[in-house]
Amino acid sequence: MAELDKKDEAVDATPNVTDIVKVDASTTTEVEAILDAPVDRGEPILQVRNLVKHFPLTSGILFRRQVGAVKAVDGVSFDLYQGETLGIVGESGCGKSTVARLLMTLERATAGEVFYKGQDITKLSGRALKAVRRNIQMVFQDPYTSLNPRMTVGDIIGEPFDIHPEVAPKGDRRRKVQELLDVVGLNPEYINRYPHQFSGGQRQRIGIARGLALNPEIIICDEPVSALDVSVQAQVINLMEKLQNEFNLSYVFIAHDLSIVRHISDRVGVMYLGKMAEIGTDEQIYEHPTHPYTQALLSAVPVPDPEAREHRERIILTGDVPSPANPPSGCRFRTRCWKAEDRCSTEVPLLAIPERFQGLDSPVAHESACHFAEEKDVVGAA
Ligand SMILES: Nc1ncnc2c1ncn2[C@@H]1O[C@H](COP(=O)(O)OP(=O)(O)OP(=O)(O)O)[C@@H](O)[C@H]1O
Ligand code: SF4
Ligand SMILES: [Mg+2]
Repeated sequence: MAELDKKDEAVDATPNVTDIVKVDASTTTEVEAILDAPVDRGEPILQVRNLVKHFPLTSGILFRRQVGAVKAVDGVSFDLYQGETLGIVGESGCGKSTVARLLMTLERATAGEVFYKGQDITKLSGRALKAVRRNIQMVFQDPYTSLNPRMTVGDIIGEPFDIHPEVAPKGDRRRKVQELLDVVGLNPEYINRYPHQFSGGQRQRIGIARGLALNPEIIICDEPVSALDVSVQAQVINLMEKLQNEFNLSYVFIAHDLSIVRHISDRVGVMYLGKMAEIGTDEQIYEHPTHPYTQALLSAVPVPDPEAREHRERIILTGDVPSPANPPSGCRFRTRCWKAEDRCSTEVPLLAIPERFQGLDSPVAHESACHFAEEKDVVGAA
């Protein structure tokens, strides 16, 4: 696995925080300054700009005509940096999986751009698209249905090599698949077994091995542990973190569970009804949320500490999530927001650092799509 080994060396060559501290800082103040300095994330590996996906709604039996559109994703923007994990959370139906499929170019975007290393992949086709797809892979939610029951594990993991034979020539595939099994903690001798001979956690390891087969740079994980038992979830998450360090992978990690997202993510984006409501580092989102929707989500997370539980305010959202075929005007959250005012129904709030927080050296100064963004004391996920 020459390419994987190369990536390993590249990771080793990068100094970590402790190395920097040992070499450069002789006094405590200097050490603190280094640790407090804003994280330089470098160039984004993926830049998503105003991404839109509308699914047409049609009626009529003989002559089908479009009568509307499900606005599943409606102007989403974010960056993904090399080696980071960006978590995406939000209620069912808010458009998370559609974003994932758009990033994978499994769906064509209605509008917007996705730049991979500066190249807009939504406009690519043919060989250029195939080359980009090799670098962006996906791990799916349900390990029970995402693996073909009639194929051996060796054929499942090695299938991507049929499309990209340059990664593993025919004579080398078996060895390569066995290496991948080893990398994800499975016995390489299981290569001829079928998916039903594995547990749920082991099947997800097979899905991860398949995602790694082409040495990708980015892995889009759509609810990768949601179908697993809690104890197995932890093992799979630990494996994903280990692989990220080993191969310098960048993850987009979609999940319902706010605690899991916090555990694995460097930054977190909160989606509501096809839009990004708030985005920031895990500390900014979990300790200093300023968007009412994020605050409501966090206030519903069970808190183990009885004292913290006693002091927190629980925000109960009333009303159902509106239909994405007919979203509310202005701010989409306004039909469920306790702070909504007239302005909220006429003016779409932009995702930006709110004016009042701009220039502040404080974790509240992060992007939030709310006209009246402010902090509220809610206890976040552990
Ligand atoms: N192919 C499609 N045709 C029409 N509507 C679709 C299609 N795919 C998704 N939708 C709609 O788009 C919206 C967003 O769906 P999506 O699957 O992205 O949500 P999600 O956030 O992943 O939800 P969940 O958490 O339940 O997985 C939903 O209203 C869904 O019904
Ligand atoms: S813009 Fe208005 S409705 Fe939307 S979240 Fe902020 S206060 Fe609530
Ligand atoms: Mg989904």
